[in-house]
Parts: sequence; structure tokens; C-alpha cells
Amino acid sequence: MAVTLNINGENREVDAAPGTPLLWVLRDHLGMTGTKFGCGVAQCGACTVHVDGAPTRACVTPHDGLDGAVISTIEGKDGRVADAVRAAWVDVQVPQCGYCQSGQIMAAIALLEGNPNPTDDDIDAAMTGNICRCATYVRIRAAIKDAARSL
Ligand code: FES
Ligand code: FES
Repeated sequence: MAVTLNINGENREVDAAPGTPLLWVLRDHLGMTGTKFGCGVAQCGACTVHVDGAPTRACVTPHDGLDGAVISTIEGKDGRVADAVRAAWVDVQVPQCGYCQSGQIMAAIALLEGNPNPTDDDIDAAMTGNICRCATYVRIRAAIKDAARSL
């Protein structure tokens, strides 16, 4: 059955099998490949999107429960905080291979939208579920602090 999803400010009609995770609806049905598949079991954070402003693991979130929700992905997330985070990511040159980074950025934006001046502990708590195989964690923390300062 077709479901209408509000993604990055646009209503998108999707006809996917019941229970299909949002991640595969984004990637395979809508061609939005910025959201990555890492583990498929909510353990790595590569698939992080925002649902009603909250960081959400798209790999374990059935798309058909999201009727009426506001969904943001790396392709469309905008606003003052998102701009600051993207600028800081570039300034600090955070990515190495880049695979985890859209999830890292979405998690960082959600953190700063809720807490514009996070401590190291706040950053650790918010980002701990986002794994980076290239171990860019030091630069991620530096970029979050840079973004916070600029806000
Ligand atoms: S792919 Fe969703 S948390 Fe790893
Ligand atoms: S930059 Fe390579 S996995 Fe994070």
C-alpha cells in the first residue's frame, strides 16, 4: 500500500512492502543514497536521519509507521545549526573515507539543535552510537565544538 512520507519538506509517495525500513525506501525507492547502510541492526549510526527532529536509525525504522512524521536526511537538512555543522566539518576536514559521515553529521546536528553548548560528556553521550572505522572521533569532537562556538 502506498504511503506518503514527508521528507526534506516534500511529500513523497512510496509503494514499498509493509515493514520495509526507511533506509531502503530512501536509498532504493527514492534514490537518496546519502544515508548509508552499515550494520542494519541499529549498532553503527551510518543510517542516522531525523524523525520529528530526533536522531533515528533508519535501518530499523519501518517506513509505514511514519505517516505524518517530519523526516530529514543529509541531502535536505537545513537551518542555522546544519549550516554551522557542515562548515565546521569542512574547516576541520573531519572525514577520512567518509562512509560514516552523513550519520555523524546528522547526529551532531541533532545534538546541537537540542544543546547549543555541549560539554565533552554531552558530545560523548550523543555520538557514542555512531561508529567510525577510520577513527575520526577526535576531529568529530573538534568540529562539534567549532560549530557550537560559531552558533
Ligand atoms: S545501518 Fe543503521 S545503525 Fe548501522
Ligand atoms: S570516515 Fe571512514 S568510517 Fe568514518
